[in-house]
Amino acid sequence: MLEVKVREFRHSDYDSYATIHNALDPTHPLLLERAKYEDSCFGRTKYRMKRYVAESDKGEIIGVGGFEHLFFSYHPHRFALSVEVHPAWQRRGIGGLLYERLESELRSVGAEAAWALVDSTQSEGIAFVKKRGFVEKRRILESTLDLTSFDPAKFEPRARELESKGVVSSVW
Ligand SMILES: CC(C)(COP(=O)(O)OP(=O)(O)OC[C@H]1O[C@@H](n2cnc3c(N)ncnc32)[C@H](O)[C@@H]1OP(=O)(O)O)[C@@H](O)C(=O)NCCC(=O)NCCS
Repeated sequence: MLEVKVREFRHSDYDSYATIHNALDPTHPLLLERAKYEDSCFGRTKYRMKRYVAESDKGEIIGVGGFEHLFFSYHPHRFALSVEVHPAWQRRGIGGLLYERLESELRSVGAEAAWALVDSTQSEGIAFVKKRGFVEKRRILESTLDLTSFDPAKFEPRARELESKGVVSSVW
């Protein structure tokens, strides 16, 4: 029988958090320094975040779940929610366990909405959130540029033309 404990996230859990996230979504890896910096902004601003881990009886971190205010769209009672379970540990009730904890915490902080961002190719993720009452509100389309084959020279004439009209490009 699998014994799993859900507990609050600790600073020492960052590496496990990255391992789980990167196993699930290697094209959008968790950048540890950035994640730590962003996390440090919660609590000293009006933005709040709660994160939990699922830990096996051998002390291995096998899932992570949390919710947080969105930096780009603050609303006191609306949060982004995520649940991630390491692929080797899925379909054993761990995601459900993490979600139950999150739902109960969300209710206790008076949340009125939780927003889960789910990859449309992840049928398990979609089924998981649908079963828990989430409905689709928005689709995000991602554009990517292959910098190894991109030829900027093709766009130079157009860039110069726009610059002559006062349009300035910047990098950020
Ligand atoms: C979605 C995700 C979190 C589910 O994690 P999980 O640990 O597999 O979740 P659970 O095991 O609790 O539930 C998944 C399904 O496995 C099955 N299951 C649960 N316990 C089981 C068990 N002991 N034995 C066999 N099957 C089981 C159930 O069908 C269950 O679905 P249901 O609870 O909706 O009926 C996981 O697939 C994941 O990390 N996906 C990528 C991230 C993602 O899309 N997250 C979505 C929310 S933001």
